[in-house]
Amino acid sequence: MEFYSIKGGNPLVGEVGISGAKNAALPILAAAIMTNETTVIENVPDVSDIRAILSAIRSIGAIVTETDRHTFKINGSQIHDIPVVDEAVKKIRGSYYLIGALLGKYHHASVTLPKGCNIGLRPIDQHVKGFRALGADVRIEHGMIVAEADELVGSHIYLDVVSVGATINIMMAASLAHGMTIIENAAKEPHVVDCANFLNSMGARIRGAGTDVIRIRGVESLHGSDYSIIPDMIEAGTFMFASAATRGDVTIHNVIPKHLESLTSKLEEIGCQIETSDEAVRVTANKRLLNTHVKTLPYPGFPTDMQPQITVILGLANGTSIVTESIFESRFKYVDELVRMGAQIKVEGNTAIVTGVPSYTGASITCPDLRAGAGLVIAALAAEGYSDVHDVIYIERGYEDFPEKLRSLGADIEVLDDEDPESMRRRMHLVS
Ligand code: EPZ
Repeated sequence: MEFYSIKGGNPLVGEVGISGAKNAALPILAAAIMTNETTVIENVPDVSDIRAILSAIRSIGAIVTETDRHTFKINGSQIHDIPVVDEAVKKIRGSYYLIGALLGKYHHASVTLPKGCNIGLRPIDQHVKGFRALGADVRIEHGMIVAEADELVGSHIYLDVVSVGATINIMMAASLAHGMTIIENAAKEPHVVDCANFLNSMGARIRGAGTDVIRIRGVESLHGSDYSIIPDMIEAGTFMFASAATRGDVTIHNVIPKHLESLTSKLEEIGCQIETSDEAVRVTANKRLLNTHVKTLPYPGFPTDMQPQITVILGLANGTSIVTESIFESRFKYVDELVRMGAQIKVEGNTAIVTGVPSYTGASITCPDLRAGAGLVIAALAAEGYSDVHDVIYIERGYEDFPEKLRSLGADIEVLDDEDPESMRRRMHLVS
């Protein structure tokens, strides 16, 4: 298995470009099969979750052509009403978007129940509630979620929790329903807006995405479109926090600064300097950072997908910080690993009490999930000495070329393989 061998202590300095947003690309690639015409999707990140959804849509007959590493032509005219049982689909949470897409287009969907990152119980009752409100019969059978409708009819849906996935899934199915659907208490994340923009570019009539209330006037059919996915705000945030943790000076390009405001304001609060231009943000830190308190919230609040990364830098700040996770029930699993690097963090329920230490020390650590993995890499970059970061397969689900991008900023990071003798000799050589 591949792992990262990291020698910490180098400040990250330089410029880095951000890839397309994974969590926008997943629903957009699913929605692309809702028309029989060809869609061209650009700025698709080359990460394993995206390869999984592409594999799933290929498995049901969609024609997927890779024009270049980040551009895909998709044609859904050959899809039959086939259950989505592709192995890849079981591994990714975003496969649930195929339910909304297929239900909207064919009035019938049958998709293996999704798993995704191990960050606690992740129900899909709000998706089901939405599909039922549109007139579908939804049931679980043999590990599959099956949704069927004679016809889909617009409805007024109030989401009990703010859910990115449910908002997008209902939006997709409702785009091809009869009449008007209103989603109240909708998620406002940039990827919700991006998916709505894509559907609108295919002829859907969605208004209000990015606010609490989304109105969808159903249309008869959707048409082809050329569309470029927004930059990944979480990848951008991860590099911003890596710069802060290593007392670096990194300019992050291809970002939408508005999407990063909850992050830039926290970084300023703890003593970083931030310069923002139209499509870039520069983060510099030249002294020990200050403590603060953070609570994860739906957008525009502080994102849960940045919670491990901020906990890692607060672990090095001067004073005690409190980090409260309010979205997922079990997103502090990485703390044990961080404690092995010398962090002083105590978790009580959904709260971490973080007492800053002057430095971390390198250790052999294991990623429990995608964003925690990114956080642990940041810790290793800031630590004294060597760290081995294992189970990086999680990181590769959502970060394109992560080690290469970090290396371009001066990080001392190598990708090794613990089953390859040459790699292990290299590892011995590095630490001796
Ligand atoms: C999306 O997950 C992202 N995944 C997550 O990113 C992200 O952490 C999350 O949104 C929040 O921003 C994808 O886009 C593929 P939710 P999703 O539905 O849609 C509860 C990453 O690292 N809920 O907004 O599954 C749920 O349990 C991943 O890239 C219900 O109760 O999240 C959670 O507490 C991890 N019933 C809250 O709502 C439902 O039917 C928000 O979940 C749905 C959700």
